[in-house]
Amino acid sequence: MPESAFPEWIRRTDATLSNALPDPAVAPQRLHAAMRHAVLKGGKRMRPLLVYATGTALGAADASLDAAAAAVELIHCYSLVHDDLPAMDDDALRRGQPTVHVAFDEATAILAGDALQTLAFDVLANAPQDAPQRVAMLAELARASGVAGMCGGQALDIDATGGRTKGDQRHVSDRDDSTAGVVRPKNDYGFVPLPFSLAELERLHALKTGALLRCAVRLGALAANADASCCAALDRYADALGLAFQIRDDLLDIEGDAATLGKTTGKDQAQDKATFPALLGVPASRARLQELAASMQAALDSVDADTHALAALAHKAIHRSH
Ligand code: IPE
Ligand code: IPE
Ligand code: MG
Ligand code: MG
Ligand code: MG
Repeated sequence: MPESAFPEWIRRTDATLSNALPDPAVAPQRLHAAMRHAVLKGGKRMRPLLVYATGTALGAADASLDAAAAAVELIHCYSLVHDDLPAMDDDALRRGQPTVHVAFDEATAILAGDALQTLAFDVLANAPQDAPQRVAMLAELARASGVAGMCGGQALDIDATGGRTKGDQRHVSDRDDSTAGVVRPKNDYGFVPLPFSLAELERLHALKTGALLRCAVRLGALAANADASCCAALDRYADALGLAFQIRDDLLDIEGDAATLGKTTGKDQAQDKATFPALLGVPASRARLQELAASMQAALDSVDADTHALAALAHKAIHRSH
């Protein structure tokens, strides 16, 4: 079974993260505790699994992938802490726990996110690869996290929230004022139709979620010194996976339950978020997932390696219930 390695890869990830995180008994204790809360309390570890699945398929040893796996998860955890803040999605539940700003406070959550981000680069800078490879991996993680990746996508998401048009600077908290007295028609799923195109929504998803998932695959490939044609095929796999992962996330916000998901459901509709179901409806979103499953398999078919673990992660992205 290709998934048989997953528990060991998750165990390695958790051990690397736990070692890298600061001691909660040492000052500033509150910040250290918040960082550990954000990282060590659950999570599927999808991005680390992608690092290990890619790297080992191409001949890298597990131990050579630990730093990269932990680094990309640290960036992901920081993105979740900031995503949940009142100024962004204003969520109280994450991984079945109170979000960091609820369990601690907003200032601590902002700092915990900041410190997790820098810790990611610290961990990766100490990876066992040769210096040129390490620099390439650091550059990859930096690009995927910043304006051309996750942060840029989050900015597009915030701009698009609440049926706002691009470039509107209002915050989530202003939403009620901006829509007061305005009755906007909703589609069959209760969403206000989005004022932008499918291509724009796909770009938003590719940046906010796809970039880090692709980075995880690329870090595994870089650690294993993959050749250019292999990297190109893996990029095609990862791009389809990134989009599929966020479409599934959008569907789970409608169809999932909070106990299984570990996060509050129905928030996207309540906040008029830019999601696939909001633009296309649920059946077309599901159909798009099936197309992406085929794209992922086609990409993996052109990789000359045992890609069963990557195929299992593709299946997980499409069919996951949390
Ligand atoms: C949630 O990511 C946010 C998205 C990018 C969709 P995950 O679904 O990977 O969250 P965890 O890490 O398992 O909590
Ligand atoms: C978040 O997307 C993507 C990030 C970069 C954190 P969502 O806002 O849909 O993620 P959830 O649903 O809160 O996990
Ligand atoms: Mg969000
Ligand atoms: Mg969110
Ligand atoms: Mg979501």
